[in-house]
Formats: sequence, structure tokens, C-alpha cells
Amino acid sequence: MKYYYTLIVILCFFSCSKKEQTQNTASGNNAQKYEEVINELLSKMTLEEKIGQTNLRGTSSRAKTLSDELKQDVRDGKVGALLNVMRTEFVDELQKVAVEESPNKIPLIFARDVIHGFKTMFPIPLGMAASWDADVAKTSSRIAAIESSQVGVRWTFAPMLDIAKDSRWGRIAESPGEDPYLASILGKAYVEGFQGDSLNNATSIAACAKHYIGYGAAIGGRDYNTTVIPNSLLRNVYLPPFEAALRAGSATVMTAFNEINGVPATGNKYLLKDVLRDELHFDGLVVSDWDSVIEMIAHGFATDEKHAGELAANAGLDMEMTSKAYEHHLKNLINEGKVSEAQLNEFVRNILRVKFRLGLFETPYIDKSNEVNFYTKEHLSEAKKAAIKSTVLLKNTKVLPISKQTKIALIGPMAHAPLDQMGTWAFDGEKEHTVTPFEAFKTAQVNFKYVSGLTHSRDQSNTQFKKAITTAKEAEVVVFIAGEEAILSGEAHSRSNIDLPGAQEDLIKALAKTGKPIVLVIMAGRPITITNIIDDVDAVLMSWHPGTMGGEALHDILFGIIEPQGRLPVSWPKTAGQLPYFYNHKNTGRPANKEDYVAMYDIPIGAWQSSLGNDSHYLDIGYTPHFPFGFGLGYTTFSYDAIKVSKDTINFNEDIIVKATVSNTGKRVGKEVVQLYIRDVVGSITRPVKELKRFEHVVLEAGETKDVTFTLSSKDFIFTNNASVRAAEAGDFDVWVGPHAASGLKKSFYLQKK
Ligand code: BGC
Repeated sequence: MKYYYTLIVILCFFSCSKKEQTQNTASGNNAQKYEEVINELLSKMTLEEKIGQTNLRGTSSRAKTLSDELKQDVRDGKVGALLNVMRTEFVDELQKVAVEESPNKIPLIFARDVIHGFKTMFPIPLGMAASWDADVAKTSSRIAAIESSQVGVRWTFAPMLDIAKDSRWGRIAESPGEDPYLASILGKAYVEGFQGDSLNNATSIAACAKHYIGYGAAIGGRDYNTTVIPNSLLRNVYLPPFEAALRAGSATVMTAFNEINGVPATGNKYLLKDVLRDELHFDGLVVSDWDSVIEMIAHGFATDEKHAGELAANAGLDMEMTSKAYEHHLKNLINEGKVSEAQLNEFVRNILRVKFRLGLFETPYIDKSNEVNFYTKEHLSEAKKAAIKSTVLLKNTKVLPISKQTKIALIGPMAHAPLDQMGTWAFDGEKEHTVTPFEAFKTAQVNFKYVSGLTHSRDQSNTQFKKAITTAKEAEVVVFIAGEEAILSGEAHSRSNIDLPGAQEDLIKALAKTGKPIVLVIMAGRPITITNIIDDVDAVLMSWHPGTMGGEALHDILFGIIEPQGRLPVSWPKTAGQLPYFYNHKNTGRPANKEDYVAMYDIPIGAWQSSLGNDSHYLDIGYTPHFPFGFGLGYTTFSYDAIKVSKDTINFNEDIIVKATVSNTGKRVGKEVVQLYIRDVVGSITRPVKELKRFEHVVLEAGETKDVTFTLSSKDFIFTNNASVRAAEAGDFDVWVGPHAASGLKKSFYLQKK
């Protein structure tokens, strides 16, 4: 009876206060009321029930029946949240057991990896990062939330905010790329999209900023590998996107699989308590990654399951995903005094706070008031726009755009690969809804003939080469859709060689011999090294894994209905041996430069070891990437002129205005992503050679000129040094405005302390 009383009090409070709640995080009186209700609940819960809340139980989305054992565990209050329950009838049945039969009637949260779309698949996150467009991120995550919440998902494990500088790493596909500023803008937008205006809206789902932290710094790009990240680097590069996501109200955070400087992220008290809670004031819930609690045994950090539970608990991990160290041992650990009950209470508070914020106590069941709508016209149209905005044109010797009458040979293993086109983490997208380039060409009645040439990206046989070559000879232009299957990127799918797999390069070379112009389109989860074939093709378009509407987007781009609009969110390497590569590197004491560079084949045979060319480069591939960070062409050209800074010297409390003139020097309307970079020339620790600080999308008609103005303040120059001092430092600064990280007009100014 008393449980019913509690529930009635809670429901009354929430229905009365619903209108007031427009924020994802409660503040003031609301926050206070939450805490009171949570405390009341806590006072009624047994130790076992509290531990139950910390349990995120994994299930299989393919399960056809609901096990009695699972239902009983929910009934006994042993489960706090469930992962991958994908049948709506199971969601409601389990929720009913939780809110009607479990000891304290606490609702469950149903979680799913909704990463770049639910049914309607958007480009992979690295592709969306190439849009350099917060609206793309926000709209995609809003639509993903609308679609997935219809089947009961109220918690997604996204956005992934791991800065990634190594294209060998399979999970670069899920990342926002190599730059902390761009990643922060995207991180905020994803959270706003997933969580909507208010987390307790039926179409809002809780975001999860993951993987906290440094996961992308895995040595050698090998997934799950060790990371070594000094505190200054952590704060200057890896932390900012998480801070942005938390400021946007991300309800949850997931710990990473990796260790950092010898301590696994899941048992890392410094990161979870000192940084996340004390400094960043995060009051949502922190969940482990899949089994990452017990993986601390393999890391060599915990002796056994119980010890792993103790380490995670004392580090401040609220909820354990799939492994059962808390379920099996937390009670004993508390009884033995190794973990305090106050700590467990804190976990339960954090978990219940998120459940309250989601409105689950008030409306635990799936909202059936709306018709279930997947793949709506609007969703598909946004997915197409996102694919267009994500596509990066890397090379074009005037072959693009193609005129509609042109006779085309459509060739390549990704030209009609509906499953692979969706990319990694596309669990719920159905390939039957994917529009491939082949289908888009057919629908638009393009004058084309299709031969796949290779049945899949890893196909090593040349049996179809002859047919492909004949088709190319009969055509005027070859559109070759190359790439890698979805399964070759994503979790645990790192590659040491990131050339096109299988016999794709051989086929491209064979086709080049026909003398027909070749447009190479790449669909892949990472930058693909194309040094071997770049001279054999006339244009290169990177469409990443573009999602459901990738084919239509590509059709419109190829035929010039619209221009490709993406810019690289990562430096594009010449070879995998160059990795990790990132534009915002340090200068070194011997910076590479054109004058000193000595190429391998220019060194005289028998040369004695001199200091000739002794600077930081590779003998065989030099020191620049194939395409720089921020690079991307369109169908027109732009020029930059007349950069000005408002002052040569600024004080700490003053703004500086940087202005440049951008002109469309081509023959058609076009969009430029105008980028501003700075360099803090001398610091108490060395500073990167360039750092992105602002960008703006500018649309200009042919011949049009526009002034683009950016305002910076000393806040933009803040960094953390090795003494953990976080401040801007007085001194000289360079500033560039230009089209990418390797180009731009430069000015300098001085920041002075008065
Ligand atoms: C991944 C996470 C994911 C989790 C749940 C793990 O293997 O690292 O990113 O959210 O599985 O599916």
C-alpha cells in the first residue's frame, strides 16, 4: 500500500509540474522536488533493489519470446534498464511488470544504439561531420528520436564524441573527426536533437555522450587499445566535445573501453569523480560500456569480478552494462565496508533522476497516440539533404557535373549495395528502403548501363573485368562506385591498410586504359588511401556510407542539380603509414618544409649521412596529407581577399574582429565553408600550428562578393598547460581565414595583459 502512496505522490508532482519543465536538466525548485521524491524512494528500497537499479541488462533484439526469468528479475527489482528489447509488446509487458509488480514500481529505461538514424538511415557520423553543419546533426538525431521512441526506445548510446585522428581505427566512422571545435558543435547539436525541447516529451530520448574518454587515441588505430593522454591534451582536445554535450544537457555518459595512462576509463576515479562530477557538475547517470567493468580484469587492473566491481563503484560508475559485477558483489562489498552504501545511494539517485527527467514515472508506456511512422517523406528528404551536405568533392578535372544526356557506365561493388550503403551501426535500417545509385539512376531514367565488375568490395576475382571494360568503352563517362562494405568499419573493424580492398584498384586501372573519363565515388567508413589510383581518375567524390537516400543524393550531385557540399572533418592520408595524422599538430623543433625536403629517390646512392633535409617528414611521402582537414570542392570556385583584423593589439577583455572578402569566381551559385584558424605562437606549453576557431557557411551567386566577419575573444585562446593552469596567455597570435587548414590569408595580432 505504501508503494502506491509513493507513486501517487510522484505522479501528482509530475503532472502538476510538467508545464514548467522545458529544460532537460531540472533546476531550482524542480530539482529540489526531484531530490525529495528520490530520497523518499531511497528510504524504502532494500539494498538489493538499489543494486537492481544499477543493472543494465543486455538482451537480444532477435529474441522471439520473453523469458520468464527476465520477467521475474524485473518483478524482483533486479533490473534498472534493458538494452535491445525491440518488440513493442515486450517493452510494454516488461514495463508493466516493473511499474505494477516490482517492489517500488520503478519504471525501466529501454536502450538501443540509435547512432545515425533508426529506420531512416542518415550518413555515418563521420559523414555528417563532413557537413560541418549543426542542423544536419540536430535534424538527424531528432528524426532518429522520433522514429525510435515509437517502439519504446528512450535512451540511445549516442553521440559518440571521440576525437579520431587515425583512419585505420574502424570506429572513426562513428566519430566527429579530428577537431575538438567542430566536434563540440556537432556534439551539442546531436544532444539537442535526441533530447528535443524537453526530455519528458514522448519523442525525446536520452542522449549518451560516449565513450568517456580518449577511446579514439587507441595506439595504432587498433580498437580497444591503450591510450596515453597527458592531462593538457585531454583537456585541450579530448574533453571539449563532452563538455559541449553536457552543457547541452546530455542525460547520460558512457565510459570507454580503453585505459588512459594505465587506468581503465571504467575504474577511473579522477575522470569520473574529479572531472565529470566535481568540475563539470554532471548529475545524470554514467553507464559502463558493454562488459567494460569486468574487462578491467584483462586490463590487469582488477584481480577478479568482485574487485572489478569494487574499483568501478569507488570510481563512481552508476550503472553496469551487461556484466554483473555489481549484481553479484555490491552487497558483499558494502557489507564488508569496501564500498559505502552512501555511494550506492548516489548511483541510484543519478539513475532515478534520469528516469524522472524522461517522465517515465508518469508515462512509462509507449505513447500510442501517434501513428507509427518510419521513412516518412520528410524523414527521407532530410536524409537526402544530409547526404548531399556530407559528400566531399576531392578532385574534379571538369568532368563533373555530368550532363543528363551523357551515356554512362555505372560500375563498382558499391553501386548497388543497399545494406552496405547504410554503414556501421544500422541495426534497424532496412535495406529494402535504401535507394542505391543504381536505383536512383533507373528512377531518373539516366542513360546508363550497369555492371558491378566486382560482386562486393573484397571481391578479388577479375572474371567480370572484361564485361566492365566493354561497357566502359561503349559509354562516354564511367561512374565507378567503390569503397568498403559496412562491416569493414565500425567497432573492432580496424584495418592496417586502408586502400580500396579486393581487386577494385586493378579494375579502376583497367578501366582507365579505355581512355574514358572516370568519376570515382567512394562509399566507406573512413578515408580510403587512393594514392595509387588518383591519376587514373578524373573526379573523386567521398560519400562515406551515405545512408538510406545516398543514391538519390549522388544522382543529384553527379548531374549538377546540386553541388557536393561537404568538407573533410579529418585529414585524408596518402598512406596508412602516415597515421595518425592531424592538422592541429605541433610545429616541432625541425618543422618540415619545401626547401629542406629530400625525397627518397633524390638521395644519391652511397650518400653519407649529413644533416641534409633533417626535418620532420617521411622520405617517401613527404609531410602533407593527400587532402587537408577542411578541404572540399564545389562546382564553382572562390577567392579570398583583404583579410583585416580590427586591432593589432588587444587586451584580455576585448574582442578582435577578423574580416575577409570572399568572392564566387566561378559560373554558378555555390556554397563555401569559410574557416578561421589561429596559432598561439609561443606558449607555456607548445601550441598547435593551427586550430579551428570559427567557420561560416556562405552562399554566393556567380560573381558575388561578400565580407565575412568573425569575432574572437580571449576565451577562444584558453588552453590548459602542464601545470593544469587553464588560461589564455599573452603573446603573439596568427590568424588565417581560408577554405581549409592548409590555406588561407594570414594576419597577426598581440594579446596583451594589462
Ligand atoms: C560499444 C558501445 C555500444 C554498446 C552497446 C559496445 O560494444 O562500444 O558504443 O553503445 O556496445 O551496444
